Amino acid sequence: MIEKLDVIGKQALEDLKSASSLELLEQLRVSLLGKKGALSEVLKGLGAVSADERPKIGAAANEWKRRIEETLEARKAQLETVALEAQLKSQRIDTSIPSRLSHRGTHHIITRTTRRLLQTFQRLGFDVTTGPEVETEFLNFEAVNIPKDHPARDMQDTFFMGPGVVLRTHTSSVQMRTMRSRQWPVRIVCPGAVYRSDHDATHSPMFHQVEGLWVDRGIKMSDLKGVLAFFARETFGPEVKVRLRPSYFPFVEPGAEVDVSCFQCGTKPVSTCKVCRGSGWLEILGAGMVHPRLLELAGYSGDDLTGFAFGIGIERIAMILHGVPDLRLMFSGDSRFLNQF
Ligand code: DAH
Repeated sequence: MIEKLDVIGKQALEDLKSASSLELLEQLRVSLLGKKGALSEVLKGLGAVSADERPKIGAAANEWKRRIEETLEARKAQLETVALEAQLKSQRIDTSIPSRLSHRGTHHIITRTTRRLLQTFQRLGFDVTTGPEVETEFLNFEAVNIPKDHPARDMQDTFFMGPGVVLRTHTSSVQMRTMRSRQWPVRIVCPGAVYRSDHDATHSPMFHQVEGLWVDRGIKMSDLKGVLAFFARETFGPEVKVRLRPSYFPFVEPGAEVDVSCFQCGTKPVSTCKVCRGSGWLEILGAGMVHPRLLELAGYSGDDLTGFAFGIGIERIAMILHGVPDLRLMFSGDSRFLNQF
C-alpha cells in the first residue's frame, strides 16, 4: 500500500505543478483529496492490513496529503497571480481618453453684472451694504424726502404688504437705514431687488438696482462726476464719456440724470446704431447731491458735511452691455438665452 501511495503521490505532485488553470487545479483537488479521491480509495484497503502496519500506512498517507495540499496551495497562488495580471492587462484604464464633462451651472447675467459693478466701486473704497426687500413705508419714502402726498409715490407703483409696510421700490431705502445705524463718513454701495407694479419689454415688477452713497466733509458734485466717470470707463470701455443732465429726485439737490457716450458708435453717432439708436448717448442712472434734509433726518451734523448718491438699474446696464432687446428674457429661465452668458 505504501508503494501505491507513493505512486499516487508522486504523480499527484507532478500533475499539480503543471496544472494550467484554476479549474483544472480544483478538479485535481477533488480527484486526489475528495471523499472518493485516490487517497481515500487506497485507504479503504486499510482494514485488510495488519495492526502494526496500519500506523505506518496512516502516517505515509497523511504525509502525502500534507505535501499534496502544500503543492496545491502554492500552484493555486501562482495561477491566481497570473490570472490577476491577465485581468489587469485586459482591463487597463486609458487615462488619455477625454472625460465626459458634467453639466455645470453658471452665474445668472444679473448676478454677474451686479458683481462687476460692485467690484468697480469697491476699488474706490465703497463698502457693500444691504437692506431688506420688505421695507417700512417710512424708510422707502419719508426718509428719502418723499412725503405722503408727493407725486413720486404715484410714479412708483408700490406693492403694499400691509399698513406701513411695502416691497421697497428702490434701493434708496438703504440710505437712511445705514446713516441711522452709523456715523459719517459713509461710503457704501447697496445692491438688491426692488419692486414696482409695472410690466412690459423694458419694465419688470421685480428688478435690481445698486444704490451708491458717499457722505463726508467737503464732498462735491465733481467727486460724483469723477466716481461715475471711473465707473463708466470700467464698465463700457476707456473711451466712454459721462454727461450729467439736470433732473429731479426728491432725495437729492441738485439732481441729475447721467448718460454715457455710446460705446458702440462713440463720438460720431450713426442712426443705425442698435445700442444708442443714433443719439450717441445712453442714459444709465440717476444721481445728485444728498438733500440736506436727509442728513438732518440721519442726525448727522458737522461743518461742511455733504454727500452724493446715485442709483443704477442693473438690468439696464446688462441689457446695454449684452444687447438684450427684451428685459423679460432675463427672468424667463429660458436656457437658450441663459446659456449665452
Ligand atoms: N431711486 C431712484 C429710482 O429708483 C434712482 C436714484 C436716482 C437714486 C437718483 C439716487 C439718486 O440715489 O440720487 O429711480
